[in-house]
Parts: sequence; structure tokens; C-alpha cells
Amino acid sequence: MYLDPPYYPAGGYADFKRYTKEFFYEEDHIELRDEFCRLADIGCFVILTNSNTDFVRRLYDGFDYEAVDSRRNISCNASTRTGQDLIVFSKEVRQSKPTQLILFSGRLLEHFPGTRYMGSKYRLLPFIWECVKDLEFSSVLDAFSGSACVSYMFRQYERRVISNDFLHFAYHFAKALIENSEVHLDENDIDLLIQPNPKAGNFITETFRGLYFNEKENRFLDSLVANIELLKNQFKKSLALSAISRACMKRRARGIFTFIGDRYDDGRRDMRISLQQHFLENIKAFNAAVFNNGHNNMSLNCNVFDLKENVDLVYMDPPYYTPNSDNDYTRRYHFIEGLVRNWKGVEIQYNTKTKKIRRYETPFISKDTVHDAFDKLFAKFRESILVVSYSSNSIPNKADMAGMLKKYKKNVRVYQVEHLYSFGTHNHKVDNNAKRVREFVFVAT
Ligand SMILES: C[S@@+](CC[C@H](N)C(=O)[O-])C[C@H]1O[C@@H](n2cnc3c(N)ncnc32)[C@H](O)[C@@H]1O
Repeated sequence: MYLDPPYYPAGGYADFKRYTKEFFYEEDHIELRDEFCRLADIGCFVILTNSNTDFVRRLYDGFDYEAVDSRRNISCNASTRTGQDLIVFSKEVRQSKPTQLILFSGRLLEHFPGTRYMGSKYRLLPFIWECVKDLEFSSVLDAFSGSACVSYMFRQYERRVISNDFLHFAYHFAKALIENSEVHLDENDIDLLIQPNPKAGNFITETFRGLYFNEKENRFLDSLVANIELLKNQFKKSLALSAISRACMKRRARGIFTFIGDRYDDGRRDMRISLQQHFLENIKAFNAAVFNNGHNNMSLNCNVFDLKENVDLVYMDPPYYTPNSDNDYTRRYHFIEGLVRNWKGVEIQYNTKTKKIRRYETPFISKDTVHDAFDKLFAKFRESILVVSYSSNSIPNKADMAGMLKKYKKNVRVYQVEHLYSFGTHNHKVDNNAKRVREFVFVAT
């Protein structure tokens, strides 16, 4: 397969150039790179051309590439020959330089409905697995499960998995995909879910008018919330809530709710299809991801410090504290969190433009409390193997983190990999989302 996308501009996307006619930006290049990896994984020989820029070289780090003078820049006058093309080949991967791209196996998560969830480890899973695969463990606690992709990976490797997150929608992702091993939404359920419900209220239509979705979509949501209540089976409820959570993220530019209106709408397919269409597509995706791994897995919805689980290995991926970052999950995803709770037991801050809910307190997002929080966490789970994900530009730093683990465990190993977050974990500016950091995995035994 030959892929010839709009070229990444030599000077990056300066703001004034952002709205290029192709509507193809950094995040699209990152998405295309993922597709390139997926195709390579399933055995397709892919050739891709792009500009020979630092950004593109980093994207395809690990694959073979060649730089050639650009056709359009060929000129008899060498001084005007400014640009080069990069040709990337999916075969003959350079083994000497392993990166997460080489380790990535599309098959591992063939069915997982990936999200653009902030801080998701989706693309780092093969790296994480490499760090733990030689340890002996049969049960895992994914203490901050988020999108549930790490839990899903452990589940695929036939471990007994307990997922936990204090956000309700994250709990439903795990209930649908980790605890559930056989229930699907069938045609009758889907019919029931999408039909207009005359008894539904109009809370969403009235409260969020003009903020995130259009009038018809808001009415669809009001009706859907009422219909989900009619489902008797808890796993069906979680599948439906997961499908609508992911639909809302996909239908929304940038997948977040920190701004109102549609100023980042770039016309891509996700922006053009209706919320109902997204919902239907996501039901399919979640249904397809359900499988049985032979264990009694579980999804919990607790503050991490209230957990009482006893497992062989605890994986900890809390929000990363960095001085300038926005790592407040409630702020980014307040609408989805409110939706899955039907705004029960949450406090809407009506004075805010976004009508967000009051945030859930967590010590991991403040400099003053983050050290103590880790210490408490490590003490709490000291009987288990401790595995922590953290990044290079965060506090505590690598040495501090290793030192804290050493207090409770004999051996501490640190693994690291370069990682390009496609989605604003490390910068609060919504229009500057691709950030390269060193990602650490600490393994303490
Ligand atoms: C970095 S994300 C986890 C991402 C996840 N590993 C993935 O790959 O999608 C951190 C998660 O921690 C959760 N969280 C933050 N503080 C928490 C607490 N005190 N108790 C439980 N969960 C918490 C957040 O809701 C968020 O989903």
C-alpha cells in the first residue's frame, strides 16, 4: 500500500497556517502513523512519503526510511533546493533501535475500542508488557484504569484483573470490557435504546443548549439516558454507557469539554456524523471487544486509597503532576461523567461557561500532596509487585520515585521509552497537543 498524505510543513504548523486546505494536522499525522503500524502488523507492506522533518522522522522512528530530494524542489540551482522527502518502509524494521512502534502488535488489541483519553497508555502497552512479562503474577490491580486498555491487555494475557477508577464512566468502560465476559447488546436492546422516549425529561436539552451538541443530539441524549435505565442487565447498561461516553468524545473536537461551541471542528468524519451514528458504531465496537479470559474479573469505582484488594501485582498510572499541565480529569470530561451519573450526586457549577461539575479531589494533581500520596500508595500495596507509569517531565522525578519505592521494596528497575502523546497530557493548550516525553515504567519487587 502506498500512502501519500498532505506533507507535514517544514516549519511546523504556525498558527496562521493551521487552516490549510487539506485540514490535515499533527493529530492526523499521528493517527495515520497508527494506521501505518496496524497495516504493518497485519503483514501489509506499506510505503509512505512525507516531508523529511524532525516530526515525521520521530513519528516513524523504528521503521526504515530514506531521505531523497523532493521532486518539486529539483532545480539546477542547488541553493534553491530546500526540501527533502522521506520515504518510510514498513518492512525491514531496524532491530537495533527498539521503540514502542516495533513492539506494537495490533493483534493484541485488535478489538479494543481505543479512546483519545488523556494519558491513555494504549500505544505504550507493548512496552509495558515487555517490562512485566518475566515476573510471576496471576492477578493484577489496575488501580487507575481510565480507558481500561491496560486492564484489557492483562486480561488478554490471561491474568485475573481488577480495574478501578474514581470516575464513573471509566468504571463503566471496565465493567463492560473487563468484568463482563459474555453479555452483548442485541438488536432489540439497540432498538429500545434509540427510540424517542416520551417520558424522558429535557434536562440535557435545557441545561447544555448550544454548548456541546446540537438540539437534536441533546434530545437524543435525554431520551437515551431514560432508555438506558430500562435495561435490566448491569453489563448491558455499562455497554450502553460506554458506547455513549465514547460517542460523545468522538463527536466532540479534541474529545473534551473544556470549551464550548465548535471552534475546533475541522470537518473530519467524526465531526460530520451524528451523535446517534457514533453511538451505533460504538455499540458495535464494544460488543466486538467482549471476550472471556477464563477469570472472574472485576471493575471497581473507588478512591484508590479505599481499595482493599489483595493481588500479585498492582499497576499504578495516576495523573502525572507537571507544573503547567492540565491533569484534571473531571474538568476535561465533566459532561461525560455527569451523563453516566445522570447528574445525580454531582454538583453542577452553573456559574461556569462549561457548566462543569465540581471536581473530584485527588492528591496526585498538586505539588504539595503528590509525594505523600505516592508514599501512602506504595505502603498500602507493599505486599504486591509494584509497577508505576510516570513521565520524565513530571514530579516526583525519576530518582525520587525510585527512592520512594526502595523504601518498601528490595529491587527497583526503571524502564524508559520515548513517547509522543497525541493528546494533550502535558500541555494545557488545546491546540498544542503532540508532546514528546520519556515515559518511565518502575518495577519494584
Ligand atoms: C493517567 S490516567 C490512567 C490512564 C489509563 N492507564 C489508560 O491507559 O487509559 C489516570 C486516572 O486516574 C484516575 N484517578 C485520579 N485520582 C484517582 C484516585 N484518587 N482514585 C482513583 N482513581 C483516580 C483518573 O480518573 C484517571 O482516569
